[in-house]
Amino acid sequence: MDKFSIKGGKRLEGELAVSGSKNSALPLVMASILSDEVSTISNVPNLADIKSMILILEVLGTKTDLRGSVLRVEPSNCDKFEAPYDLVRKMRASVYALGALIGRCGKARVSFPGGCVIGPRPIDLHLKGLEELGVQIELEHGYIIAHADKLVGNDINLRGPHGPSVGATVNVMMAAVKAEGVTIIRDASCEPQIIELAAFLNSMGASINGAGTPLVTISGVKELHGAKHSVIPDRIETATYMIAAAITGGNILITNGSFERTEAVIEKLREAGVDIVEENGGVRVSASGGQLKPIDIRTAPYPGFPTDVQSQIMALTTIAEGISVITETVHPERFMHVSELNRMGADIKIEGNNAVVKGVPKLSGAPVMASELRGGAGLVLAGLAAENQTVVSRIYHIDRGYEDIEKKLAGVGADIERISD
Ligand code: UD1
Repeated sequence: MDKFSIKGGKRLEGELAVSGSKNSALPLVMASILSDEVSTISNVPNLADIKSMILILEVLGTKTDLRGSVLRVEPSNCDKFEAPYDLVRKMRASVYALGALIGRCGKARVSFPGGCVIGPRPIDLHLKGLEELGVQIELEHGYIIAHADKLVGNDINLRGPHGPSVGATVNVMMAAVKAEGVTIIRDASCEPQIIELAAFLNSMGASINGAGTPLVTISGVKELHGAKHSVIPDRIETATYMIAAAITGGNILITNGSFERTEAVIEKLREAGVDIVEENGGVRVSASGGQLKPIDIRTAPYPGFPTDVQSQIMALTTIAEGISVITETVHPERFMHVSELNRMGADIKIEGNNAVVKGVPKLSGAPVMASELRGGAGLVLAGLAAENQTVVSRIYHIDRGYEDIEKKLAGVGADIERISD
């Protein structure tokens, strides 16, 4: 298992580009089996999760060809309908096979998904939405067995106890595009990946309106055709590198960073005293190296502050002057990084779904362990700011979602290297 060795204290300076969005690419890759024709998706990030998704397509009988960041999907021979445990357990997004297979052939056998250990992650809303389209669902030996003689549009509410669900919205959209009649999704997720999925499906011949708002309307069609699509830059990666600049008192330009999709993070970084401006279509982040101010954060579904940036911003608040309170409302138990940050000298206490962070003057390097993707990124950021050496182990979690993170950080001056066992 690889590790990152980081010698902290280097001020980051220079330019970097982020890769295509993982969370946008995953549903697009799966949605491409909704047609029999070839689809081409470009700006696909080179990540473990994308490879897992491609493997699922292949197991279903689809031909794929990934060259650099361009993926060609040829689904004409996609004639299997089982997504097995060994593949699905690695990544939660593999549950997208359910909606895509139902939309494609009216049946699916998909293992219950795995993914990051960030608290309970039920799929009741996925199943409810699909059932309301006419899908019969049985749960058997860890598998979801789904079957529909006919998909019929319906009025579906996807609100869950922690707000709308990204994954349930994806699954229902992929089945509803092939249903008879009109489907209305209420309380749909408004995340950018939903807008992108709708745009891709519409370019395949679907008829989806309202994506990006809580009310999505889908008029079903009989057939879809192949399409071409380029994935948008990754906003979570952008936010992570913004915080990397801020935590090191650095000055970097993220050349393709999206200002508009990272607004909630930008607002909080500015509140902490970091300068952020749009520059040549990218985002420039500069911090004076002076004392950061404390900030209170409440994670929320888009356009709120993303839960996927919670651990990274927490790393920053550990060295702000004063007390910051971080409230996690989307995944209320997502605090596995806290004990590791405390090992580095941070002062964080968990009270329910709040983390109370008392800023300390300095973090000190330590051996720490990543236990989930974004939590791992938070530890890397803490290591960049800490005195002496930090070794982050179990970085396979980080590799699931960050393409070449150590190369991108080293390119702007970080002292970070991958150690392979
Ligand atoms: C997606 C993202 C993930 C992000 C999360 C929240 C991808 C591949 N992953 O995950 O990075 O952290 O959105 O922004 O895009 N819920 C239910 N029942 C359900 C489904 C969800 O109660 O059937 C709850 C979840 O437990 C959670 C909340 O709803 O508390 C949001 O989850 P959801 O939006 O579904 O997350 P994912 O799609 O799994």
